[in-house]
Formats: sequence, structure tokens, C-alpha cells
Amino acid sequence: MEKKNIDWGNLGFGYIQTEKRYVSNFKDGAWDEGTLTEDANIVLNECAGVLQYAQTIFEGLKAYTTEDGRIVTFRPDLNGERMENSARRLEMPVFPKERFVEAVTKAVAANAAYVPPFGSGATLYVRPYMFGSNPVIGVKPADEYQFRIFTTPVGPYFKGGVKPLTICVSDFDRAAPHGTGHIKAGLNYAMSLHAIMEAHRAGFDENMYLDPATRTKVEETGGANFLFVTKDKKVVIPKSESILPSITRRSLMVVARDYLGLEVEEREVLLEEVKDFAECGLCGTAAVISPVGKIVDHEREICLPSGMSEMGEVTKKLYDTLTGIQMGRIEAPEGWIHVI
Ligand code: PLP
Ligand code: COI
Repeated sequence: MEKKNIDWGNLGFGYIQTEKRYVSNFKDGAWDEGTLTEDANIVLNECAGVLQYAQTIFEGLKAYTTEDGRIVTFRPDLNGERMENSARRLEMPVFPKERFVEAVTKAVAANAAYVPPFGSGATLYVRPYMFGSNPVIGVKPADEYQFRIFTTPVGPYFKGGVKPLTICVSDFDRAAPHGTGHIKAGLNYAMSLHAIMEAHRAGFDENMYLDPATRTKVEETGGANFLFVTKDKKVVIPKSESILPSITRRSLMVVARDYLGLEVEEREVLLEEVKDFAECGLCGTAAVISPVGKIVDHEREICLPSGMSEMGEVTKKLYDTLTGIQMGRIEAPEGWIHVI
């Protein structure tokens, strides 16, 4: 397979149009068989449910080239499962997870020339999404939907790659109690746009959102879960009903326990105890694990002992082991690697 002539090493996290995308339509209560198309544009009625009432959900995963030249994806079944849950919460039809994995496989295989080579530092980002497509004017779910998958080659999500980030505790909330924080719906990201732009204007890389009910507990950022390491090298993961169940974070918990022999605690984390941690990282498909060096809460600055120049020791081990598994250098637990 001849790869495209792309400067893989200098890619940022942006959209580059690739050749093929997957499309399936839901009409009269059923999904059609689905197909690949070259048309990257979508024509919609002006009153489509997605345009009026934001009825849209999505997923994000990556395809990698392994050292021995295979193209693989990482736990796509979990993305399919999460998308089923997102669909149920927004009264959308479920696109079954088995079909989801099959569709991801087709979309990646059709764009194999865009899967960055092993060792390039880039990956092929895969974006499945679904939206209400027929006209809806009363507030109600659409009757017709489109499920699509496009792919785009990407580099690191944060400029500067693995340089520790400075984040601020946001005055805005990301999710309501009993709301939609635990699903991957566009509406959660729309509401975070003002908060992230305010954070950027103030010189921060990202926001730390707190639990909206008490504003005392750590939740997540706009696009990644948190991971903390204590001074005695225990991994602590914030637990909340209103954060997205990150597949990266769930995998890192297994990596920490089973590969690195570390103790892992998933529990509520108070903002007040963050000053006592040794390391902090953001984890997600796009973020992988991005180290955090400093957290600013109004006048108070919390500087993580791991510092602003490199990843903390445990964070680095987690990063190396996870990416080693994803790129086929380290043996993966059963079922984690899906070969295209
Ligand atoms: N939290 C939010 C809000 C996200 O958008 C993402 C990205 O998908 C994550 C966490 C990380 O989830 P995952 O590891 O499944 O990509
Ligand atoms: C991902 O990590 O896949 C996401 O969807 C997060 C987004 C901020 C790019």
C-alpha cells in the first residue's frame, strides 16, 4: 500500500480530507446496509433535527500502523458500546456495536494510504457520528438519522507534544447533575467552547471542570479525563456520574495494575487534595496522556512536583506502556487490538 505524501511528523490535530467515508441511513425504523462514499459534504433540510435541536452524538478512536506493518485500532468495541449509550440518552436509534466495528474497519481499510507509518508520531483519527436528519420543528426526536465515519490523519492534540500543560479551574460548568456529561454528545462540547476560549485568552491550555452540584470535586476537562499520581505512586482516578467514561482511562487503569504493578483507586477527588498529588495527566484518545504541570484556581497556583519541563515518572511509564500496546510493541490484553 503506497502511503500518501504527507509530512506526518509535522501534523497537528486538524482536519485533512481523506478519500472515503462510511454512510448509513436510518429510515422507517431501520438502518440501511451502509456504504462507502467519496462525497465529504452533507446536504440537509433547513429544519433537520441536528440543526435545530442539536441531536447529534459522536465517537473518537485511532488507527495505528504497528512495527510489523499491520493497521490496527484500539478497543473499537468500547466506542461502539458507548455510542449505543449516547444514542439511548438522546432518543436516537442505536447503531449496533457489531455494525459499528465493521463500519470502522471498512472506513479505515478504505483510507489505508492515510494511516501514518509506524514511528511517525501521527495516527489516523476516526470520527464516527450520528445525527437527526429529517425536519423537526416541535421539540421532539427526529425520525430519520444518518450515521457516518470519516477519518483524518492527526498529530498531537496539544501543541508542543508532551510539554506539561497549565490548566485553570473553570468558573463554568461542563455538565449538569443528572444531565448528559457521561455521553458523547455535541451539546457537551458546544457549551464548552466559550469556557475554553476564555481559558485560552487568559493564557491557559485547558480547563478543569468541577462537579456542578458542589463545585468541590474534580471532574474532567472539555476533552479528556484526569489521572493523578500520589507521592507514593498510587494512581488516583476521579469518579463521577457526569464525566465521560474514557476508554483510554479505563485501559490505563488496567495498565497501571497489571503491567506496572501499581495500586489504582477510582474515587471522588476533592479540588482541595490536588495540591498533595505528585503528578497529573489528561487522558483520552486525542490527548493520549498529556502531562499537567500547573493548575491555577483563581489566585492559587498548584505546581505539581513533576514540574513544567517533562512528564512525571509514573505518567511516562503509563504513556510508554499504553502506546506500546497500541502500536503493537507490547503484548496487549485479549481483545484490545482489532486488526483491520
Ligand atoms: N472526556 C471527554 C469530555 C472527551 O471528549 C474524551 C474524548 O473522547 C475523553 C474524556 C476521553 O475518552 P476516550 O479515552 O474514550 O477517548
Ligand atoms: C477524543 O479524544 O477522541 C475526543 O473526542 C476529544 C476531542 C476533544 C477531540
